[in-house]
Amino acid sequence: MFRFPEKFLWGVATSAYQIEGAWNEDGKGQSIWDTFAHRPYTIHNNENGDIACNHYHQMPEDVALMKELGQQTYRFSISWSRVLPQGVGAINHKGLDFYDQLVDRLLDAEIIPNATLFHWDLPQALQDRGGWHNRDSVSWFCEYAQVMFARLGDRVPLWCTHNEPWSHAFQGHSFANHAPGIASAAQAYQTVHHLLLSHGRAVQLFRQEGYNGEIGIVLSFRHYLPASDSESDRAASQRAYDDKVSMFLQPLFRGHYPEHLINWLGTQAPQIHDGDLELIQQPIDYLGINYYYTLSISFASSGGLLKLKSAPFSAPGWGHTEMGWGVNPEGLKAVLLDIKENYGNLKVYITENGCALKDQSDATGLVADWGRVNYLRDHLRAIHEAIQTGANIQGYYLWSFLDNFEWSNGYRPRFGIVRIDFDTCKRIPKQSAYWYKEAIARNGIE
Ligand code: NOJ
Repeated sequence: MFRFPEKFLWGVATSAYQIEGAWNEDGKGQSIWDTFAHRPYTIHNNENGDIACNHYHQMPEDVALMKELGQQTYRFSISWSRVLPQGVGAINHKGLDFYDQLVDRLLDAEIIPNATLFHWDLPQALQDRGGWHNRDSVSWFCEYAQVMFARLGDRVPLWCTHNEPWSHAFQGHSFANHAPGIASAAQAYQTVHHLLLSHGRAVQLFRQEGYNGEIGIVLSFRHYLPASDSESDRAASQRAYDDKVSMFLQPLFRGHYPEHLINWLGTQAPQIHDGDLELIQQPIDYLGINYYYTLSISFASSGGLLKLKSAPFSAPGWGHTEMGWGVNPEGLKAVLLDIKENYGNLKVYITENGCALKDQSDATGLVADWGRVNYLRDHLRAIHEAIQTGANIQGYYLWSFLDNFEWSNGYRPRFGIVRIDFDTCKRIPKQSAYWYKEAIARNGIE
């Protein structure tokens, strides 16, 4: 039996656009994901989040199910345009009430709420004013953050400013496979800077206004392995790490961007004003780590701005998930040790980890997803090993509670420990949900 520390928190995660549906109900404004997903030939099968898991209407049932499945904490995100339909200005009270009720229900069920302010669904009205490329985005975000702190700050003990700023900046503004669908590396790097700046300012406000909870940011981590020992592959692997990891950790914790990378970017590098880096480097209470996979990196002269090619890496015997991602639990341990050793062993929550698999349901709808159980068990083992070495890891959020809208891949990849029948919106816990419930109850794994 591998036991976890006594106060270790166990939970599940979701995000607003991926589960809520009710995209235009009760006064909600349009978000960039509504716009993007409604564009033909943008999303797999032309799917969208209009209904998704219908969580907006089935929230009480979902909280009850979390409780039944033994969850101790729930990480969700707030839809900005549900609360502020135009992004700033008039508040939509029905939207705000929804999150108020969610938080109250969670607390009644003794589930700790963990609220993410931005999980990629910017109000369309703000995109029309330039979105994150516009430096005013910092004050737009802070206005929204203050509305949420004021309403929920007395009851939400865990806050996250941004979820995976790399993904939103690059997939949305450079690769164009996410909303808002822009293809410009320069805009992506500028977006990174404004996301970080808005994070720093929001943390500052949270402190100034005296809220008691913890506030942090959630970053996407991969583990990078050079494809060979050659100098060019090793340098390419370092560039991948700098672009995805140092680009965030260094300004957040050391007060500067990675210099090599900024030089490499040349004219694509972001515009930075005096004082910006001090603002970004606000002390935070925890770092959120999202980890899914490991990549093998090689130099490629045709490999875009960073001149590299990446391929999924799987530990022997693991194969690939439905996303085509390689499975490597050791990669998670490596990421955790990197934070422990190089970033002052700060407090960490694993804010996302999980896998999409080809789930097969039987006649009753039950999915015997032992592949997911194996994935979870071995990633939890890796976390346990990191904790044994002294890493300051305080909790784990499995992605995801429900099968949901996996962005440009639509509903095909199923990440949930609860199956959704998307025709009826019926929820059916999978085998992994029962396995996870048992692990939580024992505070450990075998
Ligand atoms: C990270 C994102 O935060 C989440 O929205 C997404 O569904 C998962 N990764 C799986 O791709």
